[in-house]
Amino acid sequence: MCAAPKPAVISVKTESSDCPALFTPITFRSVRLKNRIGVSPMCQYSAQEGFMNDWHLVHLGSRAVGGAGLIIAEATAVRPEGRISPQDAGLWSDAHIVPMKRITQFLKEHGCVPGIQLAHAGRKASAARPWEGAHHLKDTEGGWPTLAPSALVFDPKKLNKLPNALSIEEIEAIQAAFVAATQRAVEAGFQWLELHAAHGYLAHSFYSPLTNHRDDRYGGSFENRCRFVLETATAMRKAWPAELPMSVRLSCTDWAKEGETGWDLAQSVQLSMLLKAVGVDLIDCSSGFATPGVSHYPIEPDWQVPFSETIKKEAGIATAAVGMITEPEQANDIITEGKADIVLLAREMLRDPYWPWWASKTLGYHDALIDALILPPQYSHWVEQAH
Ligand SMILES: Cc1cc2nc3c(=O)[nH]c(=O)nc-3n(C[C@H](O)[C@H](O)[C@H](O)COP(=O)(O)O)c2cc1C
Repeated sequence: MCAAPKPAVISVKTESSDCPALFTPITFRSVRLKNRIGVSPMCQYSAQEGFMNDWHLVHLGSRAVGGAGLIIAEATAVRPEGRISPQDAGLWSDAHIVPMKRITQFLKEHGCVPGIQLAHAGRKASAARPWEGAHHLKDTEGGWPTLAPSALVFDPKKLNKLPNALSIEEIEAIQAAFVAATQRAVEAGFQWLELHAAHGYLAHSFYSPLTNHRDDRYGGSFENRCRFVLETATAMRKAWPAELPMSVRLSCTDWAKEGETGWDLAQSVQLSMLLKAVGVDLIDCSSGFATPGVSHYPIEPDWQVPFSETIKKEAGIATAAVGMITEPEQANDIITEGKADIVLLAREMLRDPYWPWWASKTLGYHDALIDALILPPQYSHWVEQAH
């Protein structure tokens, strides 16, 4: 059986063990993940007035039953106007806690750590669901005015609302909303907190020079552009129990085109060090989406792994790798080679909620003991029987 690392120590033990690195437990603060496989946050666009419901229970619950060590629930808006779509999950009121509690309890019963990603969509808010066009909804169609560090339209075609540039008072009110939602996340039973600071949403649009043209203390220099995410993470960390871990998802580069000055990996390393200093435990390493057009992104298997590898080594903080990770050997190699501490899978988990079980089998680490670790007895008792 895989040996557990000592509590409160983040370590990767892969040598001298027959256990694939992917199935070695890891502990962050007081929280032990039974393996290195996490479900990446994925908006379901299926909530009503921000309330999670049976869809979320079954969606997240299936992946807990399927053996993931960690599930980070979808980008959850800290204020109604911070939703990407009207159907996004939210945590801007105490009433939202109740259905979430049912979900976190179910995940814990199945040995899975329940996490939540708190978010504000900034200028990308007020949009139709992806399968309904993903365009900005007019205020008369159920949309609402959007907010951003600077009054810059995302895209003249689909996301064409002109956002209001935030005042200092409005920035402070949004930061307070992140803190209030953090306190509610504790009440709801989550054990892992993530700040969404990627993909062109509000926090990312502050630190990216492509989208932040402010000339006050929230814009201009690296220090000023990072102020929003650092202040917000610091305040959330203080409101989040000391024994529970917190991560921040970054867009580690803007993939700026020639002639553009965008955010890059070197700045991500610097920011990760600052986030580590305020008590952030892990950087979730994504990239891009501050501006439209992704055809020049080098999307292929492992395409974002160099970010997690570099940040882990140069900033000295634990990392998650995400993006086009689909194969068990591929995921295991990322952990074995020390390129990340955990892997997060998104679309592959939609294709197969039992991916962890299949991965253990593929990696040749499959016996009754492991079945029992990965799957609940209702399944593990039967899966190896040929007849
Ligand atoms: C349906 C769907 C919803 C997503 N929602 C979120 C989200 O709420 N927050 C986030 O940070 N990323 C979100 N993403 C991005 C994924 O978390 C992940 O970073 C991306 O899909 C790359 O991983 P993959 O190649 O394994 O799918 C979403 C992706 C999908 C497919």
